[in-house]
Amino acid sequence: MKFFVDTADTAEIRELAESGLVDGVTTNPSLIHKSGREFLEVVEEICGITDGPVSAEVVALDHETMMKEAEVLRKIADNVAIKVPLTIDGLKTCKALTDDGTMVNVTLCFSANQALLAAKAGASFISPFVGRHDDIGFDGMQLISDIRLIYDNYDFDTEILVASVRHPVHVLESARIGADVMTAPPKVIRQLVNHPLTDKGIEGFLADWKKTGQTIG
Ligand code: E4P
Repeated sequence: MKFFVDTADTAEIRELAESGLVDGVTTNPSLIHKSGREFLEVVEEICGITDGPVSAEVVALDHETMMKEAEVLRKIADNVAIKVPLTIDGLKTCKALTDDGTMVNVTLCFSANQALLAAKAGASFISPFVGRHDDIGFDGMQLISDIRLIYDNYDFDTEILVASVRHPVHVLESARIGADVMTAPPKVIRQLVNHPLTDKGIEGFLADWKKTGQTIG
């Protein structure tokens, strides 16, 4: 399963990339707002950190303006994936862009039928939002299972990109189901590393090592 980082914080992306944990990056308008930086400049900087897909979202609601915004965004770098909302205009934009060889991430997916539409429109990625789905009393991971089943039934190439990941169990379940990608905030990716028995083990080994009086090298 590929790991994308869901942030516009370039320092965090750099740090995780050094551990080989960044296969791509996702941003959205809220994350850009949080960064306090200029959108195009941040996307360009991120594209310089990773060769993987970097999702940059259009903000127009109509197809024509979405295409104009996508034109600006895709000029930034070859690894920009245009993020479009799951609306009829978004799907139309998805089809036009993917027909033209541009990667597209269809975002704000909350049903398996929506995911089916995105695949038919040729999406490179579909982003089902599991955390937000859980928030309103549905089972976000069931949505991922349903999409996996449907995409496998028809051999769709669209990659399932699990989004709105809030905790390590979302990551574990995504991997068990066979999602292609998950995108999580840096904090959640770091949580995957932590285990109290690892910490306790290191503590014990170092205490015993000290007793040997030896050094390495
Ligand atoms: C990713 O592409 C989404 O924009 C992101 O995962 C949304 O996460 P949130 O529901 O925590 O805002």
